[in-house]
Amino acid sequence: MTVKISHTADIQQFFEKAAGFDNDQGSPRLKRIIQRLLQDTARLIEDLEITEDEFWHAVDYLNRLGGRGEAGLLVAGLGIEHFIDLLQDAKDAEAGLTGGTPRTIEGPLYVAGAPLAQGEVRMDDGSEEGVATVMLLEGQVLDPQGQPLAGAIVDLWHANTRGTYSFFDQSQSAYNLRRRIVTDAEGRYRARSIVPSGYGCDPQGPTQECLDLLGRHGQRPAHVHFFISAPGHRHLTTQINLAGDKYLWDDFAYATRDGLVGEVVFHEGAEGRYAELKFDFQLQKAQASADEQRSGRPRALQEA
Ligand SMILES: [Fe+2]
Repeated sequence: MTVKISHTADIQQFFEKAAGFDNDQGSPRLKRIIQRLLQDTARLIEDLEITEDEFWHAVDYLNRLGGRGEAGLLVAGLGIEHFIDLLQDAKDAEAGLTGGTPRTIEGPLYVAGAPLAQGEVRMDDGSEEGVATVMLLEGQVLDPQGQPLAGAIVDLWHANTRGTYSFFDQSQSAYNLRRRIVTDAEGRYRARSIVPSGYGCDPQGPTQECLDLLGRHGQRPAHVHFFISAPGHRHLTTQINLAGDKYLWDDFAYATRDGLVGEVVFHEGAEGRYAELKFDFQLQKAQASADEQRSGRPRALQEA
């Protein structure tokens, strides 16, 4: 019979004290969250009979995870970021807020402040010319009735042919493959870019170390990330995941969803092979002005 003490009044009071319940300083909300975290951690230690070695390895793991800046990658890989989407979907369904393009995870690789263009733009800096396949990406942003939304902002970012992102990959130029496009009078956005590659977690990093112990790979299909916003409409965070990729429905971050698969069509042009990807987005009406904004998640900002 295993000894269990976490349910006792003494231990509960002890964690309430550790969470600052006996003072009136600080944040009541954070106190409530920390108290729950401590209580649930204690239960987990008891129920799974966590050994001291396991506990201190976990503490060391968190230090290494943060040191490598991979906490945002781990929460995606363990499906927590996708769970937050599923929870919001369920809340929306209950509130009758259905329709439009599905949301999916943002991931940890957005950089704020990308160059803003009117209607159309070239996204790549030409550094992969001859290696990359040119991709012509275009579509419309639509309102709930299917009418085009002029003046919407399409904020998009994607990886290069090596599967890495500018800013996080310092070998790329600033804001390479990152742009904001204001839709034209027909709600249309057009980008000339390159076909992105999928990517994997750093094989030497702590996220992959955890996935290895779960018997899982850390690969994502090729994809393009989007923030879509327009006055009076609900902010949309989503991705197009590219059809034909071997990881399309085996994405370690669980971002691929029905309605978010993009068909890349290859053509032979006068200047060689190029790809076309057409994708329209449909927004929901905002119920309140806060709905027009993306989450307050802390994000990277490129230094000028
Ligand atoms: Fe990504």
